[in-house]
Amino acid sequence: MPRALVTRKLPSKVIARLEQECDVDLYVGESAISRDELLRRVAGKDAIICLLTEPIDAAVLDAAGPQLKVVANVAVGYNNIDVPACRARGVAATNTPDVLTNACADFTWGLILALTRRLGEGERVVRAGKWGGWALDYMLGMELRGKQLGLVGVGRIGAAVAEKAPAFGMTVAYTDQRPANIPNATQMPLDRLLATSDVVSLHVPMTPETKHLIDQKALTKMKRTAYLINTSRGPVVDEAALAWALKEHVLAGAALDVYEKEPEINAALMPLENVLLIPHLASATTETRTAMADLAVSNALAVLNGKPPVTPVP
Ligand code: DGY
Repeated sequence: MPRALVTRKLPSKVIARLEQECDVDLYVGESAISRDELLRRVAGKDAIICLLTEPIDAAVLDAAGPQLKVVANVAVGYNNIDVPACRARGVAATNTPDVLTNACADFTWGLILALTRRLGEGERVVRAGKWGGWALDYMLGMELRGKQLGLVGVGRIGAAVAEKAPAFGMTVAYTDQRPANIPNATQMPLDRLLATSDVVSLHVPMTPETKHLIDQKALTKMKRTAYLINTSRGPVVDEAALAWALKEHVLAGAALDVYEKEPEINAALMPLENVLLIPHLASATTETRTAMADLAVSNALAVLNGKPPVTPVP
């Protein structure tokens, strides 16, 4: 039987499916496997099924050995995998697109609503016993109807977010390398999108080009009344610059699901009331996380059986 390392617990029915065809080495720690343990346990494996918390670089691939055939990520983002190093060794790299699109799009709208209607702030006030009662002008937020949603990147998730915009009466602008097939959406350059949008939501992959795409300069282009949402990858936003911009009210607020150095949060963000800080939950529904794990196992098994992977990284 081929040997597979699974770097974190997955739903038991998914592990059972893998066990029918593989000798499975499952890491059962509650937090991410340490680098040393990863390097030790990959040795001799034919497949690695990993999470976005594990950097799979050349050192890991070499520690696995020449029999390694596939690295199957349980995530759509695959910036934790050194894809060129995989290709150089003839190792297939796969991710989990599509199955999380709906959960992530719903979640993005959850953040947009929570941020513009100040749900985080409101909850903190109530829990602190500081609510003095209803008042006409108390904790006013921003209405979505008639406002512009600016999507930076319209891959699967960005497009699914756009699809739900008419339900909230928002117009959609987007920036992408190619025109997208999104009804009534206007493609525009990033500068214009930042300057004209009321809500800016980031949906780009993490690449050297998108690192700190939203830096101090970009933030100062946004309207002072606008909101920023990041469910993509933390390093797309310069967190220090964002903390400065929020403190100085250069923009109205931000909702973050992802961070530059997860699980660390930039200390300057913590005391700010106008930022919603969420622990990387966009795809976190039972249905979606099970489907992601299942797809990763399908990818690994396909390659181990000499077939093309179901969803190779592009
Ligand atoms: C992904 O799949 O890349 C997400 O960030 C996981 O929630």
